[in-house]
Amino acid sequence: DWSLKNFIKEKMNEIKAKVGDKQVILGLSGGVDSSVVAALIGRAIGKQLTCIFVDTGLLRLNEDIEVMNAYKDNFDINIKKYDAGNIFFEKLKGLKDPEDKRKAIGKCFIDVFVDAARDYKNADFLAQGTIYPDVIESSSSSKAAKVIKSHHNVGGLPDDLQFELIEPIRNLFKDEVRQVGLELGLPKHMIDRHPFPGPGLGIRVIEEVTKEKCLILQKVDEIFIRRLREEGFYEKVSQAFATLLPVKTVGVMGDNRTYDWVVGLRSVNTIDFMTATSTHLPWEFLDSVVNEIINKVEGVNRVVYDITSKPPGTIEWE
Ligand code: XMP
Repeated sequence: DWSLKNFIKEKMNEIKAKVGDKQVILGLSGGVDSSVVAALIGRAIGKQLTCIFVDTGLLRLNEDIEVMNAYKDNFDINIKKYDAGNIFFEKLKGLKDPEDKRKAIGKCFIDVFVDAARDYKNADFLAQGTIYPDVIESSSSSKAAKVIKSHHNVGGLPDDLQFELIEPIRNLFKDEVRQVGLELGLPKHMIDRHPFPGPGLGIRVIEEVTKEKCLILQKVDEIFIRRLREEGFYEKVSQAFATLLPVKTVGVMGDNRTYDWVVGLRSVNTIDFMTATSTHLPWEFLDSVVNEIINKVEGVNRVVYDITSKPPGTIEWE
């Protein structure tokens, strides 16, 4: 039987025994899984753990600051942030196809991570936030999900850069991972987060991704998510987000004609993310969110709400 406190104690002992006085590195993404692993290993071995946090420029608004702060106060570990946004935007230039963008982002991520990891060549261990569903997915004979959407995990490191893997939560389901995170003192808002795709805003800015478009989308997303939290909807929906369409439309603002971008809002309910239905958010709520977006975010003058189920739609737009 699974007891939270026992699990944590056992894992910490295991990690201490395995690592000894050696060093561990970990790629921190801001997602739940890698955050919980950082917390768990951090509690066990403190400063022997160094987290490499790659800021891709494709994260949520202020996510870099929030991630850094979450650990600064509660954990005695090293975190090194690499501001790689410009590298990612450069590689994304001219790319429109979703799978091309995923590949470019995945490759770029590995390149930046490898470069960063070279600074810690003396580390013996690489920790990863692999969880049980990942284990099943990668061992399953059906690779369909992978072909449809390639995910990026840190795999395929070059030969001169080899580490022994530590995967302390590879037997846990997502809800158990969350419990461990809370027990270890990670802030609730980091733990209860909706899933965020590895390629981040790179697949939510539809077609070509630019820094400017990402900045617009971050602001829109922040408003939508904050309002969902404020009105108590966030925990009731499985995943919500905004997309920026490659479409400009005409609008009026005061006495002026505007010609600005369209954004799409999407919120879904699902058990397993294989099928999903759009959330029936109250009209008044959507009205008020749309008003806030148009009033506050320069560059956007129209908002649409996506009511497509999965199937036939996917959850993401790309
Ligand atoms: P779709 O769009 O396929 O999404 O219905 C199902 C779930 O997977 C997430 N997703 C991704 N996660 N890398 C990821 O790590 C990806 O490339 C990717 N594409 C989709 C999506 O956010 C949803 O939770």
